[in-house]
Amino acid sequence: MIEVEHLTKRYGPVTAVQDVSFQVHKGEILGFLGPNGAGKTTTMRVLTGYMPATDGRVVVAGHDVFEQPVEAKRRIGYLPETPPLYPDMTVREYLQFVAKIKGVPSGDRKSRVEQVMVRTWVADMAGRACGKLSKGYRQRVGLAQALIHNPDVLILDEPTAGLDPKQIIETRRLIKELAGDHTIILSTHILPEVSQTCDRVVIINKGRVVAVDTPHNLMGRLRGAETMFVQVDGARASEAAAALAKVPGVVRVAPADNAATGAFEVESEKGRDVRRELAKAVVLGGHDLLELRPTRVSLEDIFLSLTTEEQPEEAAS
Ligand SMILES: Nc1ncnc2c1ncn2[C@@H]1O[C@H](COP(=O)(O)OP(=O)(O)O)[C@@H](O)[C@H]1O
Ligand SMILES: [Mg+2]
Repeated sequence: MIEVEHLTKRYGPVTAVQDVSFQVHKGEILGFLGPNGAGKTTTMRVLTGYMPATDGRVVVAGHDVFEQPVEAKRRIGYLPETPPLYPDMTVREYLQFVAKIKGVPSGDRKSRVEQVMVRTWVADMAGRACGKLSKGYRQRVGLAQALIHNPDVLILDEPTAGLDPKQIIETRRLIKELAGDHTIILSTHILPEVSQTCDRVVIINKGRVVAVDTPHNLMGRLRGAETMFVQVDGARASEAAAALAKVPGVVRVAPADNAATGAFEVESEKGRDVRRELAKAVVLGGHDLLELRPTRVSLEDIFLSLTTEEQPEEAAS
């Protein structure tokens, strides 16, 4: 549904996006995750035809965004970082105005506006001037204007930014409901967003794609080994550590971070379940086993490792 090929965007001397490629399948929610300044907004502006690329190609629903901008734009709904509201218009007037610009047939406009206002929970503010809306309502009116012409593709730049926790949950639910009928790209710099909302994630840092995968696979692939947290009674901790290290399949035993004596991180070969053997080794050694559990790799760990470690293949740039 969306194909981005070797996209590069420079602002004068600043390269904001460099050689970015990815695809989004029909009905999918793709998360565009990266720290501030990573190039998310820039990429989305280019995808929506709002700004030309310096290099590369974007095809949306079969239409090249640069060569067939009118065709492409008809199929895209865009929620920019700051929703483009007219402060003096009421919510209803504004949405009717946008519906007209976006080519919704005049006979359908009224019902379409009412439907979209219900869907995005702004109907109770239909008569309120846009300039007098709270941040949460402004964001949802922004979402309403992106949806008004029922586009195939939705491009949402930080759709939950500035919302309160209840609104965040509602907005995520709405986005999930919209997927399937719509193909969605949303950007965020917040990790839980992608694991809770997205089917796949593109991680971008300093204008470059550093990973594309499902949230699940990203968590799985960070480590080649499995790590267990094992805590024994602290009295003869070093003896216990030696016993753990002797268990077949164990590659490393290290004191656990910020934990009491007797707490260890035990790393084992990938795919090898050593839990039973670890428990036996502890108990047969005459130690008391207090805890034994897998340590989970969070998306946060992956994100940090992908965006803060030196990337060897990029060392030349
Ligand atoms: N209009 C502009 N002129 C010059 N540099 C810009 C402009 N817009 C963004 N940048 C720069 O491009 C980089 C990417 O910005 P942006 O796409 O806004 O990132 P993000 O949305 O991920 O925070 C940043 O270094 C930013 O300073
Ligand atoms: Mg941005």
